[in-house]
Amino acid sequence: MTRPHIEPFCDRDVGFKNMVLPGFGSGFHYKMLSLDTDVGSCTMTVQLDGGYQQPPGFSYSELEFIVVEGSISVGDKVCNRGHYFFVPAGYAMPAISSEQGALLLMMYNTGESSLTESDEHHPLSRTELYHDVDTYADIVWAPGNLVSPSVAAGCMIKLLNFNPQTFAMTFLYCMTPHFHQDNISYHDCAEEGYHLWGTSWMMQFGELPTGGYFWRPPYINHGAFASELGCIAIGRTDSKLFNHFHYNPWSTPEENEHRSAARLARRDPMLYRWCVNHAHNHPHGPEDFEDTMPRRGTHTHADGTTHTHDHGHADHSHD
Ligand SMILES: [Fe+2]
Repeated sequence: MTRPHIEPFCDRDVGFKNMVLPGFGSGFHYKMLSLDTDVGSCTMTVQLDGGYQQPPGFSYSELEFIVVEGSISVGDKVCNRGHYFFVPAGYAMPAISSEQGALLLMMYNTGESSLTESDEHHPLSRTELYHDVDTYADIVWAPGNLVSPSVAAGCMIKLLNFNPQTFAMTFLYCMTPHFHQDNISYHDCAEEGYHLWGTSWMMQFGELPTGGYFWRPPYINHGAFASELGCIAIGRTDSKLFNHFHYNPWSTPEENEHRSAARLARRDPMLYRWCVNHAHNHPHGPEDFEDTMPRRGTHTHADGTTHTHDHGHADHSHD
């Protein structure tokens, strides 16, 4: 249940398609950047035509989106470029329209893109998780050492969303002009990125310009990297971001995975021993007597049903 590696890719190289799913207004065009064909989760560049109108409604998937160019009206609030939204599954957004048109990046994280017309939230929606912000005006750039070990100085971060259970993150990042970092990195999480503006360079994948995109599964070497004139991008991870740094350009994803497991065995030997004890039968992960929420993004079925695992999990909406 993952998306294939796509890198490098630039959305300017492909044309828009018309959205034909029910609920979306006419004048909604998309470019598919990445897609999990099992669950339908996907990331799309979206063009809304001038005059676009969409009724109030919710998706059965968690949704994040950012205005890349132009502006949209959400209810009676006008949101310009750089405005970011975190929309939990089942959260009913007000009517959305765009007078002059807009370019958006939309990330349906836990299920296929959908819009069910409604001015009420789904009863299972975790509405308290909703938030939106003008990222360009109302958040300041912070050093990249939010994560340690850190990227080199000159790569700055604005944290947009953080899941305290999975440590999944969404963030803006920028590289200042002449930024460079000479080591190679990989992570235990999947990572995606979209260039809002500017070009960066990666040793393995070359230059990524404005509109550039990657979906990078875990354990894939990336770096060294650099940017001559600077760039600004939005990034997202699906679980904890840890920088496994090294200088071996020939290591394979399998070798990287083994190295990561070896580090875990050294750091948390008792936990490691428990995890590899095959006497346990916990294909969905072990129980947590305190935290019974789903371990990944919340997804409620279209018919509102919930699913109870047969090995001791509390009731929860299935992800
Ligand atoms: Fe990375």
